[in-house]
Amino acid sequence: MKQKKFFEKFLQNLSKIDEYNLKNIIELLESERRTFREVLDWLNEGIIVFDKDNIFFINREAQRILRAVPVAFPITFAELDKHVYNRDLYKLIDQSRGTEGPYSFTFQNTGDIVEYYELELSVISNSVSIMKICDMTSQKQLEFQLNSLESIAALNTLAAGIAHEIKNPLSAIDLHTQLIQKGIEKGMLKSSPELDRFIEIIKEETSRLNNILNDFLLSTRRRELKLSFEDVNEYMKSILSLFQPEFEINGIEMDTELGSIQKVFIDHDYLKQAIVNLLKNSIESIKSSETKKILIRTFYNIAKDAIGIEILDSGVGIDKKDFHKIFEPYYTTRENGTGLGLTIVYKIIKEHGGEIAVDSRKINEKFRHPEPYNTAFTVYLPTNRGTKLLTSTD
Ligand SMILES: Nc1ncnc2c1ncn2[C@@H]1O[C@H](COP(=O)(O)OP(=O)(O)O)[C@@H](O)[C@H]1O
Ligand SMILES: [Mg+2]
Repeated sequence: MKQKKFFEKFLQNLSKIDEYNLKNIIELLESERRTFREVLDWLNEGIIVFDKDNIFFINREAQRILRAVPVAFPITFAELDKHVYNRDLYKLIDQSRGTEGPYSFTFQNTGDIVEYYELELSVISNSVSIMKICDMTSQKQLEFQLNSLESIAALNTLAAGIAHEIKNPLSAIDLHTQLIQKGIEKGMLKSSPELDRFIEIIKEETSRLNNILNDFLLSTRRRELKLSFEDVNEYMKSILSLFQPEFEINGIEMDTELGSIQKVFIDHDYLKQAIVNLLKNSIESIKSSETKKILIRTFYNIAKDAIGIEILDSGVGIDKKDFHKIFEPYYTTRENGTGLGLTIVYKIIKEHGGEIAVDSRKINEKFRHPEPYNTAFTVYLPTNRGTKLLTSTD
């Protein structure tokens, strides 16, 4: 009101105002105008002020959203059109001029990047409109992520339940197949080569299904670690001795380089599943390779204050394009793979407070291991110093 009275008086007395006062007043107006612009530029919302022909102002956020080059105002819609790169959104604003407000709508831009905007139009005087634009893109993305995380978690629980249910009938099938085999051996059932073959297939497939279910359950289940203080060298030797027959059958030469290292806290059986998975992967990758060698190294890494267990193989190596996928669930390049092996390894090592690293000659020109080794998986287990694991042991 005050402002209006001031202007009315000012206009009435315009002819009586001397040059000095006129200059002062214009300066005052200009400084106010600048302040308002700065306030508008400071807002998180995009603001565009326009009438049916001209755009009077676009604040900084609206310029960012429209991907507009800075221009001088006022400017016609047709002229600004040459300086705006968010074409679809601009078209929409262009169409809304001269329309009656207020109204609001959501706009989804489906270019290379999907963007979401909420637009609100108000007519502030007879012909001037204000458009408010909120960029909702990151909020929407976050919502999508949260939704998909939640649905993945729900799906996992559901699937784990089903997997568990399948295990019972599966062991019944397994048991009865064994009974048929016994019946044949004892002469109670008639034997035939076809029947033997069918039984073999059933046994193979049930065992495969069982492996898939076990892997799946391992990858989804939460587990309390049962920690014991162990000598990693002795631990590795005991696991490797289990693999000896498999190394021999596949003609694999296995070497060890065991460093002098301190004991660490591990969950004996749980960590074993991780090491076994890594060894199995090495064996698989060696099968189609001419040189068949595995090297197991243990050492202390000062920088990480951790015990390292390194499994090196002379297998086919890992391609650069697959490198980032190998730990993802269900990613496999093997005909009979479940793609859960490394997912489980990752989970187990993380739950031990450790880390896992992978390197391959195919990815890294400076692969630090000598021929014939092509791939190295390294597990780092924190030593008891400075780890949280200590407090959770008895
Ligand atoms: N030692 C290795 N050498 C080469 N490739 C490997 C090795 N270990 C894992 N991989 C690659 O990572 C993929 C995923 O491994 P994993 O999660 O254990 O699933 P799976 O063994 O069922 O395929 C494998 O299919 C293979 O392509
Ligand atoms: Mg595997």
